[in-house]
Amino acid sequence: MAKTNQRFAEYLSPEKENELQQIALAIVKPGKGILAADESVGTLGKRFASIGLENTEENRRKYRELLFTADDSLAENISGVILFDETFRHSTADGRPFVKVLQEKGIIPGIKVDTGLVPLGGTFDESTTQGLDDLAERCAEYKKGGCGFAKWRCALRISGQTPSYQALLENANVLARYASICQQNGLVPIVEPEVLPDGDHDLETAQRVTEQVLAFTYKALADHNVYLEGTLLKPNMVTAGQASPIKYTPQDVARATVQALNRTVPAAVSGITFLSGGQSEEDATVNLNAINQYVGRKPWPLTFSYGRALQGTVLKTWGGKDENFKVAQNALLKRARANGAASAGQYQGEQQGSGESLFVPKHSY
Ligand code: 13P
Repeated sequence: MAKTNQRFAEYLSPEKENELQQIALAIVKPGKGILAADESVGTLGKRFASIGLENTEENRRKYRELLFTADDSLAENISGVILFDETFRHSTADGRPFVKVLQEKGIIPGIKVDTGLVPLGGTFDESTTQGLDDLAERCAEYKKGGCGFAKWRCALRISGQTPSYQALLENANVLARYASICQQNGLVPIVEPEVLPDGDHDLETAQRVTEQVLAFTYKALADHNVYLEGTLLKPNMVTAGQASPIKYTPQDVARATVQALNRTVPAAVSGITFLSGGQSEEDATVNLNAINQYVGRKPWPLTFSYGRALQGTVLKTWGGKDENFKVAQNALLKRARANGAASAGQYQGEQQGSGESLFVPKHSY
Protein backbone atom coordinates (compact mmCIF):
# COMPACT_ATOMS: atom_id res chain seq x y z
CA MET A 1 0.00 0.00 0.00
CA ALA A 2 1.32 3.46 -0.84
CA LYS A 3 2.30 5.58 2.14
CA THR A 4 -0.01 8.57 2.00
CA ASN A 5 2.26 10.72 4.15
CA GLN A 6 5.35 10.17 2.01
CA ARG A 7 6.67 13.54 0.91
CA PHE A 8 9.07 12.38 -1.80
CA ALA A 9 10.32 9.18 -3.42
CA GLU A 10 13.28 7.41 -1.83
CA TYR A 11 16.42 9.27 -2.81
CA LEU A 12 19.14 6.95 -1.50
CA SER A 13 19.00 3.56 0.19
CA PRO A 14 20.23 3.44 3.81
CA GLU A 15 23.26 1.42 2.58
CA LYS A 16 24.18 4.12 0.05
CA GLU A 17 23.74 6.82 2.66
CA ASN A 18 26.03 4.96 5.03
CA GLU A 19 28.67 4.41 2.35
CA LEU A 20 28.70 8.11 1.47
CA GLN A 21 28.93 9.20 5.09
CA GLN A 22 31.84 6.83 5.76
CA ILE A 23 33.79 8.22 2.79
CA ALA A 24 33.13 11.80 3.89
CA LEU A 25 34.21 11.06 7.46
CA ALA A 26 37.38 9.28 6.30
CA ILE A 27 38.41 12.39 4.38
CA VAL A 28 38.12 14.65 7.43
CA LYS A 29 39.77 12.35 9.98
CA PRO A 30 41.77 14.36 12.54
CA GLY A 31 45.02 15.79 11.15
CA LYS A 32 44.10 15.11 7.53
CA GLY A 33 42.95 17.07 4.51
CA ILE A 34 42.88 17.09 0.72
CA LEU A 35 45.47 17.80 -1.95
CA ALA A 36 43.70 19.47 -4.89
CA ALA A 37 45.70 18.39 -7.96
CA ASP A 38 42.84 18.79 -10.44
CA GLU A 39 44.10 21.78 -12.40
CA SER A 40 42.72 21.67 -15.93
CA VAL A 41 45.17 21.51 -18.84
CA GLY A 42 45.02 25.28 -19.28
CA THR A 43 45.42 26.11 -15.60
CA LEU A 44 48.38 23.77 -15.14
CA GLY A 45 49.86 25.31 -18.27
CA LYS A 46 49.83 28.71 -16.56
CA ARG A 47 51.59 27.21 -13.51
CA PHE A 48 54.18 25.56 -15.77
CA ALA A 49 54.76 28.84 -17.58
CA SER A 50 55.87 30.34 -14.25
CA ILE A 51 58.76 27.83 -14.17
CA GLY A 52 59.43 28.00 -17.91
CA LEU A 53 58.12 24.50 -18.58
CA GLU A 54 56.25 23.45 -21.70
CA ASN A 55 52.63 22.32 -21.17
CA THR A 56 52.86 18.84 -22.70
CA GLU A 57 50.87 15.79 -21.64
CA GLU A 58 54.10 14.09 -20.56
CA ASN A 59 55.13 17.03 -18.37
CA ARG A 60 51.69 17.06 -16.75
CA ARG A 61 51.90 13.32 -16.13
CA LYS A 62 55.40 13.60 -14.73
CA TYR A 63 54.43 16.41 -12.36
CA ARG A 64 51.49 14.42 -11.01
CA GLU A 65 53.79 11.41 -10.59
CA LEU A 66 56.03 13.62 -8.47
CA LEU A 67 53.10 14.52 -6.22
CA PHE A 68 51.58 11.05 -5.89
CA THR A 69 54.78 9.07 -5.38
CA ALA A 70 55.99 11.19 -2.48
CA ASP A 71 56.93 9.14 0.58
CA ASP A 72 54.13 7.04 2.11
CA SER A 73 54.10 9.39 5.11
CA LEU A 74 52.08 11.73 2.82
CA ALA A 75 49.03 9.70 3.85
CA GLU A 76 49.46 10.79 7.47
CA ASN A 77 48.14 14.22 6.48
CA ILE A 78 46.53 13.73 3.07
CA SER A 79 43.35 11.66 3.04
CA GLY A 80 42.18 12.48 -0.47
CA VAL A 81 43.55 13.79 -3.76
CA ILE A 82 41.40 15.51 -6.38
CA LEU A 83 42.30 14.47 -9.92
CA PHE A 84 41.53 15.93 -13.33
CA ASP A 85 40.04 13.53 -15.91
CA GLU A 86 43.32 13.24 -17.82
CA THR A 87 45.21 12.40 -14.61
CA PHE A 88 42.59 9.83 -13.58
CA ARG A 89 43.67 7.91 -16.72
CA HIS A 90 47.44 8.39 -16.25
CA SER A 91 50.05 6.03 -14.77
CA THR A 92 53.58 6.27 -13.39
CA ALA A 93 56.49 5.90 -15.82
CA ASP A 94 56.69 2.24 -14.80
CA GLY A 95 53.02 1.65 -15.55
CA ARG A 96 51.16 1.84 -12.21
CA PRO A 97 47.85 3.71 -12.56
CA PHE A 98 47.81 6.82 -10.37
CA VAL A 99 44.48 5.76 -8.86
CA LYS A 100 46.13 2.55 -7.62
CA VAL A 101 49.23 4.37 -6.35
CA LEU A 102 47.01 6.57 -4.19
CA GLN A 103 44.79 3.74 -2.99
CA GLU A 104 47.83 1.68 -1.95
CA LYS A 105 48.95 4.61 0.19
CA GLY A 106 45.52 4.72 1.85
CA ILE A 107 44.56 7.94 0.04
CA ILE A 108 41.09 8.25 -1.50
CA PRO A 109 41.13 9.39 -5.14
CA GLY A 110 38.62 12.10 -6.03
CA ILE A 111 37.70 13.74 -9.31
CA LYS A 112 36.83 17.21 -10.58
CA VAL A 113 33.61 16.74 -12.56
CA ASP A 114 32.67 20.27 -13.56
CA THR A 115 33.79 21.37 -17.00
CA GLY A 116 34.50 24.97 -16.11
CA LEU A 117 33.04 28.43 -15.71
CA VAL A 118 30.87 30.10 -18.35
CA PRO A 119 29.47 33.66 -18.42
CA LEU A 120 25.96 34.33 -17.08
CA GLY A 121 24.16 36.56 -19.56
CA GLY A 122 22.87 39.90 -18.35
CA THR A 123 25.13 40.08 -15.32
CA PHE A 124 28.17 42.19 -14.51
CA ASP A 125 30.80 39.63 -15.46
CA GLU A 126 29.37 36.80 -13.35
CA SER A 127 29.50 33.10 -14.10
CA THR A 128 27.92 29.73 -13.62
CA THR A 129 29.59 26.34 -13.96
CA GLN A 130 28.80 23.75 -16.60
CA GLY A 131 29.06 19.95 -16.85
CA LEU A 132 25.65 18.52 -15.88
CA ASP A 133 24.72 16.96 -19.23
CA ASP A 134 26.53 13.61 -19.07
CA LEU A 135 27.41 13.87 -15.38
CA ALA A 136 25.64 10.67 -14.24
CA GLU A 137 27.52 8.54 -16.78
CA ARG A 138 30.85 10.16 -15.92
CA CYS A 139 30.25 9.71 -12.17
CA ALA A 140 29.46 6.03 -12.71
CA GLU A 141 32.72 5.57 -14.61
CA TYR A 142 34.79 7.39 -11.97
CA LYS A 143 33.19 5.39 -9.17
CA LYS A 144 33.92 2.14 -11.00
CA GLY A 145 37.47 3.36 -11.59
CA GLY A 146 38.12 3.83 -7.86
CA CYS A 147 37.10 7.39 -6.99
CA GLY A 148 35.28 8.06 -3.74
CA PHE A 149 34.40 11.71 -4.09
CA ALA A 150 33.97 14.55 -6.56
CA LYS A 151 34.43 18.30 -6.76
CA TRP A 152 32.46 21.02 -8.55
CA ARG A 153 33.50 24.65 -8.24
CA CYS A 154 31.30 27.70 -8.64
CA ALA A 155 32.74 31.20 -8.32
CA LEU A 156 30.99 34.34 -7.06
CA ARG A 157 32.39 37.81 -7.38
CA ILE A 158 32.13 40.73 -4.96
CA SER A 159 31.61 44.20 -6.45
CA GLY A 160 29.15 47.07 -6.16
CA GLN A 161 26.57 45.12 -8.20
CA THR A 162 27.50 41.52 -7.42
CA PRO A 163 26.76 38.81 -6.49
CA SER A 164 23.40 39.27 -8.19
CA TYR A 165 20.26 37.36 -7.19
CA GLN A 166 20.53 35.56 -10.53
CA ALA A 167 24.08 34.35 -9.83
CA LEU A 168 23.26 33.37 -6.24
CA LEU A 169 20.25 31.32 -7.31
CA GLU A 170 21.79 29.72 -10.40
CA ASN A 171 25.07 28.70 -8.75
CA ALA A 172 23.30 27.26 -5.71
CA ASN A 173 20.96 25.26 -7.93
CA VAL A 174 23.69 23.87 -10.18
CA LEU A 175 25.68 22.79 -7.10
CA ALA A 176 22.61 21.01 -5.74
CA ARG A 177 21.93 19.20 -9.03
CA TYR A 178 25.59 18.14 -9.16
CA ALA A 179 25.50 16.94 -5.53
CA SER A 180 22.36 14.91 -6.13
CA ILE A 181 23.77 13.22 -9.24
CA CYS A 182 27.06 12.40 -7.47
CA GLN A 183 25.31 10.85 -4.49
CA GLN A 184 23.11 8.68 -6.66
CA ASN A 185 26.30 7.34 -8.23
CA GLY A 186 28.12 6.70 -4.95
CA LEU A 187 30.45 9.71 -4.97
CA VAL A 188 30.63 12.17 -2.08
CA PRO A 189 30.09 15.63 -3.57
CA ILE A 190 32.40 18.37 -2.42
CA VAL A 191 30.26 21.46 -2.77
CA GLU A 192 32.43 24.47 -3.63
CA PRO A 193 30.81 27.88 -3.87
CA GLU A 194 33.91 30.08 -3.84
CA VAL A 195 33.55 33.76 -3.05
CA LEU A 196 36.53 35.17 -4.97
CA PRO A 197 39.14 37.31 -3.17
CA ASP A 198 39.35 39.82 -6.06
CA GLY A 199 38.64 43.37 -4.95
CA ASP A 200 39.33 45.87 -2.19
CA HIS A 201 36.33 45.01 0.03
CA ASP A 202 36.69 44.73 3.80
CA LEU A 203 36.30 41.65 6.00
CA GLU A 204 32.71 42.49 6.95
CA THR A 205 31.66 42.61 3.29
CA ALA A 206 33.34 39.25 2.62
CA GLN A 207 31.51 37.78 5.62
CA ARG A 208 28.12 39.15 4.56
CA VAL A 209 28.48 37.82 1.01
CA THR A 210 29.82 34.44 2.15
CA GLU A 211 26.81 34.05 4.46
CA GLN A 212 24.46 34.94 1.62
CA VAL A 213 26.10 32.49 -0.79
CA LEU A 214 26.05 29.66 1.76
CA ALA A 215 22.42 30.35 2.70
CA PHE A 216 21.39 30.06 -0.97
CA THR A 217 23.51 26.93 -1.33
CA TYR A 218 21.98 25.05 1.61
CA LYS A 219 18.45 26.06 0.63
CA ALA A 220 19.06 24.51 -2.80
CA LEU A 221 20.63 21.36 -1.33
CA ALA A 222 17.56 20.95 0.87
CA ASP A 223 15.23 21.51 -2.11
CA HIS A 224 17.05 18.72 -3.99
CA ASN A 225 16.93 16.26 -1.04
CA VAL A 226 20.73 16.08 -0.84
CA TYR A 227 21.91 13.85 2.00
CA LEU A 228 24.05 16.32 3.93
CA GLU A 229 25.95 13.73 5.99
CA GLY A 230 27.30 12.42 2.69
CA THR A 231 28.68 15.80 1.57
CA LEU A 232 31.63 18.06 2.31
CA LEU A 233 31.68 21.85 1.90
CA LYS A 234 34.66 23.55 0.29
CA PRO A 235 34.26 27.25 1.06
CA ASN A 236 36.58 30.22 0.96
CA MET A 237 37.87 31.40 4.29
CA VAL A 238 36.36 34.79 5.05
CA THR A 239 39.19 37.18 4.19
CA ALA A 240 39.19 40.81 3.07
CA GLY A 241 39.60 41.49 -0.65
CA GLN A 242 43.11 40.92 -1.89
CA ALA A 243 43.49 44.68 -2.54
CA SER A 244 41.90 45.79 0.76
CA PRO A 245 43.82 48.62 2.43
CA ILE A 246 42.84 47.24 5.84
CA LYS A 247 44.91 44.37 7.19
CA TYR A 248 43.32 41.80 9.46
CA THR A 249 44.83 39.27 11.87
CA PRO A 250 44.38 35.49 11.58
CA GLN A 251 42.13 35.79 14.64
CA ASP A 252 39.89 38.26 12.77
CA VAL A 253 39.72 35.85 9.82
CA ALA A 254 38.94 32.95 12.17
CA ARG A 255 36.09 34.78 13.90
CA ALA A 256 34.51 35.97 10.65
CA THR A 257 34.87 32.54 9.05
CA VAL A 258 33.48 30.47 11.93
CA GLN A 259 30.64 32.93 12.46
CA ALA A 260 29.66 32.81 8.78
CA LEU A 261 29.73 29.01 8.75
CA ASN A 262 27.78 28.70 12.01
CA ARG A 263 25.05 30.92 10.63
CA THR A 264 24.56 28.99 7.42
CA VAL A 265 25.99 25.44 7.33
CA PRO A 266 23.89 22.69 8.91
CA ALA A 267 25.66 20.68 11.61
CA ALA A 268 24.77 17.52 9.65
CA VAL A 269 27.42 18.32 7.02
CA SER A 270 30.32 15.90 7.58
CA GLY A 271 33.16 18.36 7.20
CA ILE A 272 34.53 21.62 5.89
CA THR A 273 37.59 21.59 3.65
CA PHE A 274 38.75 25.12 2.82
CA LEU A 275 40.25 26.17 -0.50
CA SER A 276 43.36 28.35 -0.23
CA GLY A 277 42.13 30.97 -2.71
CA GLY A 278 45.44 32.64 -3.52
CA GLN A 279 46.64 33.04 0.05
CA SER A 280 50.36 32.46 0.51
CA GLU A 281 51.32 29.01 1.77
CA GLU A 282 52.06 30.39 5.21
CA ASP A 283 48.86 32.50 5.45
CA ALA A 284 46.74 29.49 4.45
CA THR A 285 48.32 27.43 7.22
CA VAL A 286 48.24 30.15 9.89
CA ASN A 287 44.61 31.05 9.14
CA LEU A 288 43.50 27.41 9.24
CA ASN A 289 45.30 27.07 12.56
CA ALA A 290 43.57 30.17 13.95
CA ILE A 291 40.18 28.84 12.79
CA ASN A 292 40.78 25.61 14.69
CA GLN A 293 42.02 27.48 17.75
CA TYR A 294 39.01 29.81 17.73
CA VAL A 295 36.99 29.31 20.89
CA GLY A 296 33.35 28.86 19.97
CA ARG A 297 30.88 26.38 18.55
CA LYS A 298 32.33 24.36 15.66
CA PRO A 299 30.16 21.31 14.90
CA TRP A 300 32.22 20.07 11.90
CA PRO A 301 35.88 19.15 11.34
CA LEU A 302 37.59 22.15 9.69
CA THR A 303 40.47 21.23 7.42
CA PHE A 304 42.13 21.98 4.08
CA SER A 305 41.61 21.14 0.41
CA TYR A 306 44.43 23.22 -1.01
CA GLY A 307 45.77 23.49 -4.53
CA ARG A 308 48.14 26.45 -4.71
CA ALA A 309 49.00 26.54 -0.99
CA LEU A 310 50.26 22.93 -1.11
CA GLN A 311 51.97 23.12 -4.47
CA GLY A 312 53.57 26.59 -4.81
CA THR A 313 57.00 25.67 -3.42
CA VAL A 314 56.83 22.13 -4.81
CA LEU A 315 56.52 23.42 -8.36
CA LYS A 316 59.29 25.99 -7.94
CA THR A 317 61.62 23.48 -6.33
CA TRP A 318 61.02 20.95 -9.09
CA GLY A 319 61.51 23.46 -11.93
CA GLY A 320 60.79 20.64 -14.39
CA LYS A 321 64.11 18.91 -13.59
CA ASP A 322 64.40 15.20 -12.78
CA GLU A 323 67.24 15.78 -10.32
CA ASN A 324 64.91 17.91 -8.17
CA PHE A 325 62.16 15.28 -7.86
CA LYS A 326 63.02 14.21 -4.32
CA VAL A 327 63.51 17.71 -2.84
CA ALA A 328 60.25 18.82 -4.43
CA GLN A 329 58.48 15.81 -2.90
CA ASN A 330 59.93 16.76 0.48
CA ALA A 331 58.49 20.26 0.06
CA LEU A 332 55.04 18.68 -0.44
CA LEU A 333 55.43 16.55 2.69
CA LYS A 334 56.39 19.66 4.66
CA ARG A 335 53.28 21.62 3.62
CA ALA A 336 51.07 18.58 4.21
CA ARG A 337 52.46 18.19 7.75
CA ALA A 338 52.05 21.88 8.48
CA ASN A 339 48.43 21.92 7.33
CA GLY A 340 47.71 18.66 9.11
CA ALA A 341 48.90 20.32 12.33
CA ALA A 342 46.84 23.45 11.55
CA SER A 343 43.72 21.35 11.09
CA ALA A 344 44.14 20.36 14.73
CA GLY A 345 45.03 23.92 15.81
CA GLN A 346 48.56 22.75 16.62
CA TYR A 347 50.68 24.56 14.07
CA GLN A 348 53.64 26.20 15.79
CA GLY A 349 55.38 27.66 12.75
CA GLU A 350 57.90 24.82 12.65
CA GLN A 351 57.18 23.98 8.99
CA GLN A 352 57.06 27.55 7.77
CA GLY A 353 55.86 27.98 4.21
CA SER A 354 56.51 30.65 1.65
CA GLY A 355 54.96 34.07 2.28
CA GLU A 356 54.60 34.78 -1.42
CA SER A 357 51.05 35.58 -2.54
CA LEU A 358 49.53 32.97 -4.85
CA PHE A 359 46.70 35.25 -5.94
CA VAL A 360 45.51 34.86 -9.54
CA PRO A 361 43.01 37.50 -10.76
CA LYS A 362 39.57 36.06 -11.70
CA HIS A 363 40.88 32.60 -10.95
CA SER A 364 39.50 29.74 -13.02
CA TYR A 365 40.44 26.15 -12.45
P1 13P B 1 43.26 26.69 -4.28
O1 13P B 1 43.62 26.08 -2.96
O2 13P B 1 44.47 26.91 -5.17
O3 13P B 1 42.41 27.91 -4.15
O4 13P B 1 42.39 25.64 -5.11
C1 13P B 1 41.67 24.68 -4.51
C2 13P B 1 40.65 24.19 -5.45
O5 13P B 1 40.51 22.99 -5.63
C3 13P B 1 39.79 25.15 -6.16
O6 13P B 1 38.73 24.50 -6.79
